[in-house]
Amino acid sequence: MVKKGIILAGGSGTRLSPLTKAVNKQLLPINDKPLIFYPLSILMLANIKDILIIVNPKQIENFKNLLGDGRRFGIKIQYKIQSKPKGLPDAFNLGKNFIKKDNVALILGDNFFYGQSLTAKLEKSLTHKNGSRIFLKKVKRPENYGVAVIKNNRIEKLIEKPKKFISNYAITGLYFFDNNVIRYTKTLKPSKRGELEIIDLLKIYKKNYKLSFEHIGRGAVWSDAGKIDDMTNISSFVQSVEKVQDIKIACLEEIALYKKWIDKKQILKNIKFYGNCDYSNYLKKI
Ligand code: DAU
Repeated sequence: MVKKGIILAGGSGTRLSPLTKAVNKQLLPINDKPLIFYPLSILMLANIKDILIIVNPKQIENFKNLLGDGRRFGIKIQYKIQSKPKGLPDAFNLGKNFIKKDNVALILGDNFFYGQSLTAKLEKSLTHKNGSRIFLKKVKRPENYGVAVIKNNRIEKLIEKPKKFISNYAITGLYFFDNNVIRYTKTLKPSKRGELEIIDLLKIYKKNYKLSFEHIGRGAVWSDAGKIDDMTNISSFVQSVEKVQDIKIACLEEIALYKKWIDKKQILKNIKFYGNCDYSNYLKKI
């Protein structure tokens, strides 16, 4: 069972500058909540309660002010500083004392997932003991992502941001790994752009016949918030769903209450913490 999760919420966010000059990308708003609520809600929906958030040095206090030690959501949150963006697999160098001998999930702090079909797929992946498992989604612009070429229901090739079309199955920013990930990461060398690449890590699993995948499918939505347009699109999507259905996406307290990780008393405390706002009004209702 995967019981630990890492959220990568560092990076320099240069593509979103000047928005990210003073505030980390993962703290920017997606409709009514900071972006990080969304990937955090995915880990919580996957029953992962032990979480490490990797942040850059300037922003750690902001994250702590927002999420604290996780107690408000019935989970445990720890933080680790990444001095500079060395690449996604750096999460396993920085997180090795957190992971210890366990398996681990990694979610990118700027990834948005939504859809009921997702929860069942997440739960299935949690029981995966060996190897790595990735989630694929058909996209319009594969050149912006890591992609997988699928043949006969198997992964044939993995390429990071292909310049020429090779497949439109993007590798989304949610990955499950067995404990070998710590050992494999140590063997990685920085790519031309000077970063450790997640695709190189996945290639090691593929070579050992230990890489499996799941299609997210049309029933669920995925996007990363790499560009301003993505941020606006995701925000509008969340706003529409929340308005039409009178629910909130990624309300952390609602997930925690449903899972019986917190009680009504804690919800009342959280309402005090947030103050008089729309989010608190929603908490009152649940
Ligand atoms: O979103 C999915 C894509 O994410 C995958 O399809 C690609 O294979 C994968 O390489 C990655 O591509 P990006 O170019 O979108 O990664 P980016 O550099 O934007 O980093 C993603 C998140 O991770 C972002 O929120 C910042 C954070 N990050 C990134 C790096 C490189 C860190 O916290 N530390 C880092 O060292």
